[in-house]
Amino acid sequence: MSQGSNFQMKLFLDSANLNQIRKFLEMGVIDGVTTNPTLLAKEQTDPAEQIEKILKMCPGPVNIEVLSTEYEGMVKEARIISQLGENAVVKIPMTPSGIRAVRTLSQENIKTNVTLLFSLNQAILAAKAGASYVSPFIGRLDDVGYQGISLVKEIVCVFRNYSFSTKVLVSSVRHPLHVIKAAKIGADVCTVPPDVLEKMLYHPLSDIGLKRFLEDWSALSKQLGRPIFPFKEKNFNN
Ligand code: E4P
Repeated sequence: MSQGSNFQMKLFLDSANLNQIRKFLEMGVIDGVTTNPTLLAKEQTDPAEQIEKILKMCPGPVNIEVLSTEYEGMVKEARIISQLGENAVVKIPMTPSGIRAVRTLSQENIKTNVTLLFSLNQAILAAKAGASYVSPFIGRLDDVGYQGISLVKEIVCVFRNYSFSTKVLVSSVRHPLHVIKAAKIGADVCTVPPDVLEKMLYHPLSDIGLKRFLEDWSALSKQLGRPIFPFKEKNFNN
């Protein structure tokens, strides 16, 4: 779990893969996880067991999607999902029935994330219904010729104008520039696929710089005829 100001943009991992989740949790750079039916299907394992493992592994919010499309079914599934762990957040698709379900669930203090959201109007309705998060899918908007990130800017602006407590969770992230833009806008959360998070770690100048430092050090070591690490371990028992 990353440390620092409460006003930071949180990073979630957009994955249902245990190795990836463990890796980035150990690095201390992710605050939660988002899953969806496609990501769980990719793991080719029992989804209920996989979700249970993710909920245990990740102390932060873990987003799990309902599969029903009818109001009653969504509410029933959401109640079950919410009991899987304190950190479970229920993803509800952006449909009229979904919005009604969010209303019911928010009255029961069940955390919801309205997913598959593509317009400001949808975001306003989800917030009015009491959603904990809204997930604008920016990569999929880019795919059809719209600026996904512009939607994030609009939602953040309107939610701040009216002090909605609903958090903006930037989704369908395709590259590191999406993350940078989300952070500059002041989005609450950005969920990042493992390959994008991996790319965020690297810069060629970091690698070139490290190579040169190590070469210079090994040249000195050769000159002195011994390996060198100039510091001594302190004995804390004395
Ligand atoms: C978010 O919660 C979704 O799982 C995800 O961001 C979908 O993104 P995609 O467009 O890459 O499938």
